[in-house]
This record gives sequence, structure tokens and C-alpha cells, in this order.
Amino acid sequence: MGVLEVIKKRRSIRKFKPDPISEEVLDKLVEALIWAPSAGNKQMRKFFFVFNDEIKKEIALASLYQMFIEKAPLVIVACGDKNIERYYGERGLENYLFCDVAASVQNLLLVAAEQGLGTCWIGAFDEKKIKEILNLEENLLPVAIVPVGFPEKIPSPPPRKEINSLIQIIK
Ligand SMILES: Cc1cc2nc3c(=O)[nH]c(=O)nc-3n(C[C@H](O)[C@H](O)[C@H](O)COP(=O)(O)O)c2cc1C
Repeated sequence: MGVLEVIKKRRSIRKFKPDPISEEVLDKLVEALIWAPSAGNKQMRKFFFVFNDEIKKEIALASLYQMFIEKAPLVIVACGDKNIERYYGERGLENYLFCDVAASVQNLLLVAAEQGLGTCWIGAFDEKKIKEILNLEENLLPVAIVPVGFPEKIPSPPPRKEINSLIQIIK
């Protein structure tokens, strides 16, 4: 599949099969995360791969009871490192931290889709609770949570806005 084809085929998946993910595919997910661009190539981000059932359940509860998360064989918690402030000050904290993590997460979603895996970007969660559950260092800020697994079913694509309302050509 070409990149654009994967981009268009990827869907948010909220129902997973329990089948495990092979080590080979897990390695590809790791590569997708770490090869994303980052501000000044500082790579101020860290990813937690959670396979433990009890911790997955706690994460689902802390994600406003989105219990489908615990059914995924793997849940990835993507964090930004607040120490980015040392390099870029306020701009680092308010912009680059989130962009660095988002770039990795989008790479992850695309490589997962290419491998036949389903994912869902989870942004609705209680940051404080996630920090407690994973016992995160104070400098790490959870930005996104991504359950990963083989899709039980693939939903039809939700519509996108009219191109003209999103893209403005300036000549
Ligand atoms: C920043 C962000 C936060 C999101 N948070 C959630 C979430 O908490 N729960 C959820 O089920 N989906 C969440 N989504 C997924 C969106 O609902 C989904 O991407 C959108 O409906 C478009 O569907 P598609 O991904 O299949 O194209 C989030 C997506 C983004 C980018």
C-alpha cells in the first residue's frame, strides 16, 4: 500500500480481537514512533507499552471509562518530556512537546494500519491518574493513549469537511 492509501484506510478502531501482536510487528511500531520528526531532533518524548491486564483496565477507567481500551492486547501511552523547556522555553512546553508526541503517534497509527492492526487515538483521559498508574517521572506528561490490536470490525469512514473549508490556496 502507498502512504496515501494507508492514510485513507486507517480508521479509529474501538473493538479488538484478543490475538497477540508478533515481536516483528512490535518492532515496526517502535521504529514508527522513534523515526518521527522532533523539534531540533531533541526527541523529548517517551512511550510506555502496556501489556498487563490490570494496568490496562486502570488506564481504561482513567480514560473516562472508555472500557474498549482494556480489550486491546497492547496499550501505548505516549508522553512528552517537559524538560524540553530547557531548550525552547515556553514555546517548547506549549507547542513542541505536543507536536513531537503527535508526530510519533500519527506514524504509529499509519504503520499499525499498514500491518493490519487497528488503533484509536485517545485524548480523553485524566492526566493525573495516568501519571499515578504508570508511576511516571514528574517531567513526563501523558499526551495520547493508543490501544493497539487486530480489529473486530472496521467502521465505514466518517466524513471529512469540504476541501474548500479546510484548504486555502494563496498565490
Ligand atoms: C486528539 C484526539 C483525541 C481523540 N480522543 C478520542 C477519545 O478519547 N476516544 C475515542 O474513542 N476517540 C478519540 N479520538 C478519535 C477520533 O474520534 C477519530 O479520529 C475521528 O472521529 C475520525 O475518525 P477516524 O479516525 O476513523 O478517521 C481522538 C482523536 C484525536 C486526534
